[in-house]
Amino acid sequence: MSLIDAYGRVIDYLRLSVTDRCNLQCGYCAPMAGRRHLARRDILTYEELLTLSRAAVSAGIRKIRVTGGEPLVRKGIVEFCRRLCAIEGLQDFALTTNGLLLEKKADHLFEAGIRRVNVSLDTMRPERFQAITGFNRLHDVLAGLEEAQRVGFTPLKLNVVVMRGINDDEIPRLADLTRENPWHVRFIELMPVKHWSPAVYRERFMPVDEMMTRIPALEAAKVGMTADRTGPARMYRLPRARGRVGFIAPLSRHFCCSCNRLRTTVDGKIRNCLFSEEELEVKTALRDGANSYDLIRILEQSVAQKPRRHHLTDETRSDQGLRSRRGMYAIGG
Ligand code: 5AD
Repeated sequence: MSLIDAYGRVIDYLRLSVTDRCNLQCGYCAPMAGRRHLARRDILTYEELLTLSRAAVSAGIRKIRVTGGEPLVRKGIVEFCRRLCAIEGLQDFALTTNGLLLEKKADHLFEAGIRRVNVSLDTMRPERFQAITGFNRLHDVLAGLEEAQRVGFTPLKLNVVVMRGINDDEIPRLADLTRENPWHVRFIELMPVKHWSPAVYRERFMPVDEMMTRIPALEAAKVGMTADRTGPARMYRLPRARGRVGFIAPLSRHFCCSCNRLRTTVDGKIRNCLFSEEELEVKTALRDGANSYDLIRILEQSVAQKPRRHHLTDETRSDQGLRSRRGMYAIGG
C-alpha cells in the first residue's frame, strides 16, 4: 500500500512530535514568556503513538522521525524508540534533538535501533548560545556530538538556523566543522513564527543564496561540485573535507513539490503541512478504540487534503503577519 496525494506525491515519511517540552528556549521556536505546557492526558501516550505508527506503516509510511519539543526529555523515550524501530516494514528511524542529553543517551538510542540523529546547533560561542537558547549549555551539545560520533551515528547532521545579525558571521566557522568531522552541517533559512513581528522576521531572515556567498571555499570549489539533491538540502563538499555542507531553503526555493511528509502533533492531530492549519484529529479516534483500518482512513484523508505548497513567502511579505498559530515546539519543526 502507499499513500499518494492529489498531486502525485508519494507520502512515506511521518514525523512524530512526542513532547511539547524542551530544555532550551530558542526564540525562533517558542515564545519566551507565558509558555504553557499541555497536561499529560492531552498528549499521546507511547502506546497510542505506536498504534498510530503501525497503522501508518501498513498504509505506506517507510520513514519515521521522532521530534518534539525535545524528545529526549520525555521519560521512557529510549524504550519507545526500541519499540518503534521494531515495527516491521519501517526502513528508516531518525531523531531530532538539541543534543543536551545526547552524551547520556546516544549509546542507548543506538542500541535501541535509531541510526540517524539531527542535532540543532546555531553557534559555537558559549555566550551566544545562551543568548539564542536561554541556557549556557553549549558544552553539553558539543559533548553530545562527540559521543554520538563515537557511538556510530552516520551521518551525524547538524542543523543551523541562520539569523542575520545574530549568527550569520559564524557560517564559515560552522562550515569548517566539516573539514575535520564527517558531519553534514546544514544551514536553514529562518522560518517565520507567530510571536515575532513581520518586521523583526524580515530583518533576521537570510536567503540561502546569500549564506552560500559567506563560504569562500564553496565559491572557489563550485566547478565540478555535485549538488546532491536527495532531500530538501542541497549538499556540497568543501575541498578535502570529510563531511558536507548543506543548504535548506524552505522559503526562497521551497521544496513543496517533493514533500513526502505527514506530521503527528504532540496533542494527537495529523498535520499535512508544517504551515497549514488543517489538522485532523486522531487522538480521539485512538482513545475511542479505532482499529488500524479507521486510523488508515484518517491518514488517507489528511494526505488527500495535503496542499500543493505553502504560501509563507506571501505571508511574510505582508504586514498582517502569520496565520500559523502553533510554535515549532508543538509541531516538531
Ligand atoms: N526556522 C527554521 N528552523 C527552525 N527550527 C525550529 N524553528 C525554526 C525556525 N523558526 C529547526 C531547528 C531544529 C529543527 C527541529 O527545526 O533548528 O533543528
